Amino acid sequence: MIRSHPTKPFDDQKPGTSGLRKKVRHFARANYAENFIQSVFDVVDRGDNATLVIGGDGRYHNRAVIQTAIRMAAANGYARVLIGQGGILSTPAASHVIRKYRASGGLVLSASHNPGGPDEDFGIKYNIANGGPAPESVTGAIHARTLEIDRWLDVDAADVDLDTIGTATVGEMAVEVIDPVADYADLMEELFDFAAIRKAVAGGLTMAFDAMHAVTGPYAHEILENRLGFAAGTVRNGTPLEDFGGHHPDPNLVHAKVLYDLMMDPELAPAFGAASDGDGDRNLIIGKGRFITPSDSLAMLAANAHLAPAYAGGLKGIARSMPTSAAADRVAEALDIPVFETPTGWKFFGNLLDAGMVTICGEESAGTGSDHVREKDGLWAVLLWLNILAATGKSVDQIAREHWARFGRNYYARHDYEGVESDRADALMAELSASLGDLPGKSFGPLTVAQADSISYCDPVDGSVSENQGIRVLFEGGSRVVFRLSGTGTQGATIRVYLERYEPAGGRLDADTPDMLADIIAAAQAIAGIKAHTGRAAPDVVT
Ligand code: G1P
Ligand code: ZN
Repeated sequence: MIRSHPTKPFDDQKPGTSGLRKKVRHFARANYAENFIQSVFDVVDRGDNATLVIGGDGRYHNRAVIQTAIRMAAANGYARVLIGQGGILSTPAASHVIRKYRASGGLVLSASHNPGGPDEDFGIKYNIANGGPAPESVTGAIHARTLEIDRWLDVDAADVDLDTIGTATVGEMAVEVIDPVADYADLMEELFDFAAIRKAVAGGLTMAFDAMHAVTGPYAHEILENRLGFAAGTVRNGTPLEDFGGHHPDPNLVHAKVLYDLMMDPELAPAFGAASDGDGDRNLIIGKGRFITPSDSLAMLAANAHLAPAYAGGLKGIARSMPTSAAADRVAEALDIPVFETPTGWKFFGNLLDAGMVTICGEESAGTGSDHVREKDGLWAVLLWLNILAATGKSVDQIAREHWARFGRNYYARHDYEGVESDRADALMAELSASLGDLPGKSFGPLTVAQADSISYCDPVDGSVSENQGIRVLFEGGSRVVFRLSGTGTQGATIRVYLERYEPAGGRLDADTPDMLADIIAAAQAIAGIKAHTGRAAPDVVT
């Protein structure tokens, strides 16, 4: 029996960069998750007998929303839902499952790298049939629907046992609880030379992987320890916890400091260190004594991808988000393949991947991936690095130095000002926008502005235009600063300032990043008046 529950719209359900993100308490209000899920079901494309995938990163509130979503899917005419055991599916694994089982889409329940628990964050993202995040045309329709919704539907049914693999029926819909790891691990084994990595491990290659008590624990145990033979204990914090052990599951140098310190210890460091975030789509790569920025990692992976079986035939192209450093562009030039610069957010890569125009994509925010799924993929990046280390016998540090010697080095940092009052952040961006016309030709210390503009993107595949994607100031000589407001925060506004300086081959390739960026940091302050607008003298997080 289908039940119709009257409801009223909420005015704050516009999906951001990664779906709808709010505090758990906000999400748990009556009708809140239901309205959003119903809005999705009301507008998205799905034929008859559609399959829906549901999975999450195991954070607090996952299970409750999954049970609700199952009852609602049954009432909304889905024929089948596929759910990872325990409600678990990493974001890349969910993307793969959607593609493999030809689902019409999926609900990915996560707030990525944000903390979990009753007072922390939760999120729902809808992915389409290609396995990737819904494009703006779809998220726009979902948002419009949330503003007029007046009822949501479900069936009267008991909770499904999420912990036992098997099949159940809810209403007339089949519910299949599947192994969340097996399909994904098999895909990784197809892409990479596991035999070569196993041999390197047997020959002494060591690593530490920090799963941060988040979703990648079970994946990493199976792939790294069981299939590749790394020693037990290689995977740290490998049991997913609803509150991630009270930490931020954010694989950066602040929240993965324990791993970083280990990797910088000349006595104790293994050859390779890595971490992934709450939902498994981000990665942190640190070699013994050598941190690799995500922008550099994208470039180095692209330059060496041919060493892995899946990419032996070469890359079709590379895509990077606009604030990501231009290091990958130099590799694309050397490989004589196209490079695309997109706005922030993985959804912008979907069309390029679907059209076969690019093979590898990346973002400065620790996201790297390829055409094997339609999400960024943390463990994929780790495995491609391992494949490269195994194939070359080189260390991470050696690969990095050789890369810079050939292509030059893009010194890079991102400064985040978090929890800024929204009005103040908006005022900063508005004032900056209004001043763009005056900037070209102006000098800030040794830097002279060559170009300043607000970024808009025209999708080369479908021609859709996305405006106001950030503000870019380019200096003569190839340095630049980009300003944008985060689309994923759950409290106030986060101002992101992206700083980049290019040093050509033969230049200063092993200097300290803060020294190399000092002039650009000062110019960014002067141009945007960050202190005057926010009252903050320094960023909250530097990555
Ligand atoms: C952030 C990152 C962006 C990434 C997104 C989802 O978005 O900057 O690269 O795609 O998270 O993981 P932002 O908060 O900057 O809008
Ligand atoms: Zn994530």
